[in-house]
Amino acid sequence: MRISVIGCGYLGAVHAAAMAQLGHEVRGIDTDERRIRLLTAGTAPFFEPGLGDILTSMLATGRLRFSTSVADAAEAEVHFLAVGTPQSAESTAADLSYVDGAFEALLPHLAPGALVVGKSTVPVGTAARLAEWLARDAPHASLAWNPEFLREGLAVQDTLEPDRIVYGVADARSAGTLDHVYARAIAAGVPRIVTDYATAELVKVAANAFLATKISFINAMSEIADVVGADVTVLADVLGHDSRIGRGFLNAGAGFGGGCLPKDIRAFAARAEELGRGESLAFLREVDTINLRQRQRVVDLATRILGGSVYRARIAVLGLSFKPHSDDVRDSPALDVAVQLHGLGAEVVATDPEGIENARSRHPQLTYVSSIRDALDQAQLVVLLTEWEAFRALDPVLTAELVADPRIIDGRNVFDPLVWRAAGWEYHGLGRP
Ligand code: UDX
Repeated sequence: MRISVIGCGYLGAVHAAAMAQLGHEVRGIDTDERRIRLLTAGTAPFFEPGLGDILTSMLATGRLRFSTSVADAAEAEVHFLAVGTPQSAESTAADLSYVDGAFEALLPHLAPGALVVGKSTVPVGTAARLAEWLARDAPHASLAWNPEFLREGLAVQDTLEPDRIVYGVADARSAGTLDHVYARAIAAGVPRIVTDYATAELVKVAANAFLATKISFINAMSEIADVVGADVTVLADVLGHDSRIGRGFLNAGAGFGGGCLPKDIRAFAARAEELGRGESLAFLREVDTINLRQRQRVVDLATRILGGSVYRARIAVLGLSFKPHSDDVRDSPALDVAVQLHGLGAEVVATDPEGIENARSRHPQLTYVSSIRDALDQAQLVVLLTEWEAFRALDPVLTAELVADPRIIDGRNVFDPLVWRAAGWEYHGLGRP
């Protein structure tokens, strides 16, 4: 099929390349010239494992092309809207200006019978509004909502082999068109659920709200564990054996961040208020509060360990991206903690395998080093905040020789306290005795 993908950020760039891999003719469109230049050259504009390879191979087939002009989308039968819906500047609601802008720009280029497919995470009710707009200004086209559940770091795999496919549609023809797009995944047995617009929109925010709630739940347990001397990692393992609960997303630590979970739960709660059901999602405000408290908890712990003040203490911060296998520092707990410690006068030396450039552009005041060894050198405290393999593989005996004082906050509860203590470290996890 001929497909356009409007918006080539984390979601759209991967989606465009994956659609070409499935055999479609794809045009990726973005207004950012630098991004389109990079994509056209086969370079991923951000760190995403596997994206560079698939871009290169799909560009070589000629099936994948990129452009800054939405007019180049005109020949497509299916247009995926994959632009961002960040938190708005004035409130916790989603900023829909990119969705509306892209939609409006696309309208004059829609061929008869074209299908516009929303992928962006939007407040419930958006698809119905856009469908009305379409009926008015381009009645020869239709609209579907097809939420995306991809995780950064696993985006290529999640797009090519999703665990479910959801279409919110108003007519059977749109579902049929999407069946052609996803023919390979459907043939492979991926569950495909066809529903209405509102359910398709809700599925996405509900999934993210549930995941965020699970993380904040275990972080709340870790706060209690700290007080009573229990071990939250063992607690999580035991809970995880209950198949109704499951072990996934029960890792206590510095909490969740990134471009999705934090803004999505805030936008969802804001939308509930607009709908007159604020109380239904009031708990998401608490989920957010618990999550942000974890960052403060790490800062407070560092202060306590350093005898009441971090002022002029040399602190090695391991991790800047919001999670491993990503260079994304949006709402990153790691970067937030580093900035807070710096603000309190600590000499923060931070490192991350992929996140330094993005962190530096936001917070040039921090000291960044590319080698773990340089970060650890003469540190009075080590704070692990993103559980990259390179950090997890640190040898406590060799690491102890590099630092000034062998003290560590394991902000992701990934190290074995017994092993680190045996190597002479003062070890502190979150919710671990
Ligand atoms: C998330 C959803 O998982 C995905 O389905 C959706 O499409 C987009 O939002 P992503 O933002 O890539 O994906 O990250 P995810 O892997 O969900 O992790 C989110 C955050 O939660 C990270 O900061 C991670 O460190 C944190 N986390 C995750 C925990 O603190 N504990 C856990 O047990 C799991």
